[in-house]
Amino acid sequence: MATSGSPSLRVVMEKVLFLLLICSKLHFVCRAADRNDRPIIGVLSQKLASNTSSYIAASYVKFLESAGARVVPVLILFPGGGVNITSSGYERAAEIFYQLALEANKNGDFFPVWGTCLGFEELTFLTSRKMQLSHTNTSAAALPLNFTEDAKRSRMFSGFPSELMAALASEPLTVNAHQFSLATTTFYSDGSLKNFYRVLSTNTDGNTEFVSTFEAYDYPVYGTQWHPEKNAFEWTRPFIPHSPSAIKTTFYMAEFFVSEARKSFHRFKSQEEEDKALIYNYNPVYTGATSAFEQIYIF
Ligand SMILES: *[C@@H]1O[C@H](CO)[C@@H](O)[C@H](O)[C@H]1NC(C)=O
Ligand SMILES: *[C@@H]1O[C@H](CO)[C@@H](O)[C@H](O)[C@H]1NC(C)=O
Ligand SMILES: *[C@@H]1O[C@H](CO)[C@@H](O)[C@H](O)[C@H]1NC(C)=O
Ligand SMILES: *[C@@H]1O[C@H](CO)[C@@H](O)[C@H](O)[C@H]1NC(C)=O
Repeated sequence: MATSGSPSLRVVMEKVLFLLLICSKLHFVCRAADRNDRPIIGVLSQKLASNTSSYIAASYVKFLESAGARVVPVLILFPGGGVNITSSGYERAAEIFYQLALEANKNGDFFPVWGTCLGFEELTFLTSRKMQLSHTNTSAAALPLNFTEDAKRSRMFSGFPSELMAALASEPLTVNAHQFSLATTTFYSDGSLKNFYRVLSTNTDGNTEFVSTFEAYDYPVYGTQWHPEKNAFEWTRPFIPHSPSAIKTTFYMAEFFVSEARKSFHRFKSQEEEDKALIYNYNPVYTGATSAFEQIYIF
């Protein structure tokens, strides 16, 4: 699954603090002395549409760096099949990380996992072992979040200023760029999903109400069907908002993920190994004229 030049996923997992996608009972308390101020976050690559190379949009990297983390690309080899959440190199890599993360957290070894958009959809599959997504008309829209009562007591939003919460609830600040969604009715009729995740927001395409943000009850596992990284860092689509509240949304989401990553102490064995793995070894290329992303890293 990993490319020949890169370490195996289990080895990567030992070192990476947090996975973007990416505890017998978790204690989310963090004493300052227990904080890791040098968090490194692994980001899974995805297959390029044009050929078998994989890529990571630079906006994910900037997003994490903006809040004080560094990024290690987790390179996945795609022997065809594209990105399919039930059967692909992406799925198998995500599956291995997800299982290792649950295992680590159960043993009191804090290891956060994050899924954005496809990563969110992947999490719904990994948790329920079923492909349960519905088609929605959400491929190009910015929407306000319809917060649940639980959002107020969530870990994810507890550090957000109240003005920003009000703006998120009333202005179209969250970018949706997906054709599949987890219908709210599906979520609540599936025991494995509803017992694992707390729904923090929903949205609708006019026909289907779907889950747009969740966090796991007992694990540091988080997902957004929307794209928090795009507001500040992507400019290629007219529906991406760039208002002050939109940019704050990007920053406060990043701040939350990275603050979770600082609770993890996974590390590289040596400085040399760390240096070799960091995204700084690669250069992003400008793709704004031909794709949805301003810059991507190609592997
Ligand atoms: C795939 O396409 C990208 C962008 O066009 C290019 O940079 C990369 O070298 C290609 N990879 C292969 C294996 O041809
Ligand atoms: C994903 O792969 C599975 C198994 O090969 C297949 O049944 C399914 O149709 C694929 N999904 C998509 C969206 O292509
Ligand atoms: C999909 O949503 C857009 C607005 O985001 C709307 O203009 C369009 O008519 C909708 N398409 C369908 C088939 O409902
Ligand atoms: C928000 O969600 C609630 C609960 O599902 C629903 O009753 C309400 O109509 C939704 N509001 C909007 C604006 O979609």
